[in-house]
Amino acid sequence: MKIFVLTGAGISAESGLGTFRDKDGVWTKYDLAEVATPEGFAKDPAKVRAFYNARRANLAGAAPNAAHFALARLAVELAARGDDLFLCTQNVDDLHEKAGSKRVIHMHGELAVTRCAHCQALRPDVGPLIAETACEACGRTGGARPHVVWFGETPLFMDEIEDALSEADLFVAIGTSGSVYPAAGFVAEARAMGIATCEINLEPSANAYVFDEKLYGPAGEVVPAWVERVLAAL
Ligand code: OAD
Repeated sequence: MKIFVLTGAGISAESGLGTFRDKDGVWTKYDLAEVATPEGFAKDPAKVRAFYNARRANLAGAAPNAAHFALARLAVELAARGDDLFLCTQNVDDLHEKAGSKRVIHMHGELAVTRCAHCQALRPDVGPLIAETACEACGRTGGARPHVVWFGETPLFMDEIEDALSEADLFVAIGTSGSVYPAAGFVAEARAMGIATCEINLEPSANAYVFDEKLYGPAGEVVPAWVERVLAAL
């Protein structure tokens, strides 16, 4: 049994991290063109750094919830049986890791990693992004940006993701609105390959009609119950 799980902001909602497109979501308060595009960073890097510094501060106080823990347990239990969980997240938070997940594919990057815009060097960093801090790799200042994939940039690990999707027996999307590609297209790809599909979300997503099975409710309740069911059926 190979299970491909795609998570989105909804899985971290009960941990107090805001989603993007819900009422009160991040993109209702900020203009994504200003804070989540290379053009926005070029125009006003201080504004972009301030936006991500606030998000880093939020993340420092956030703890994983029952849904993150259930997926970490699922990975361990599947591995013990010779099965596999491929955990792919659109989230830039580290709550899967904090819940104990060992292998997490961050296709949209990681908030707690700083990238140098000059030389692309990466370094783990939970503190604020500071323009004056010199890059440890190239020595230049002014390049500190979050290691987050912005609109107009290419998501990470796409080869690994496509390989894992093509080998999966079950594709499950959790807490994602299904509005950002390429992730939003995974369910249709899975379906075209004959892979069973399941959506777990608070409400039907934009892609709800494509999924074979749909489970609606808060991730912190629905995901642990789903994990129990999967393990009982193995
Ligand atoms: P969205 O904000 O677009 O969607 C979040 C989904 O989670 C919605 O469908 C909600 O109904 C659902 N939801 C909210 N609370 C939930 C809960 N407690 N339990 C289960 N589901 C819940 O977030 P994403 O789909 O992750 O990109 O957004 C995709 C990408 O757009 C993000 O990765 C981000 C954003 O711009 C980058 O940062 C590059």
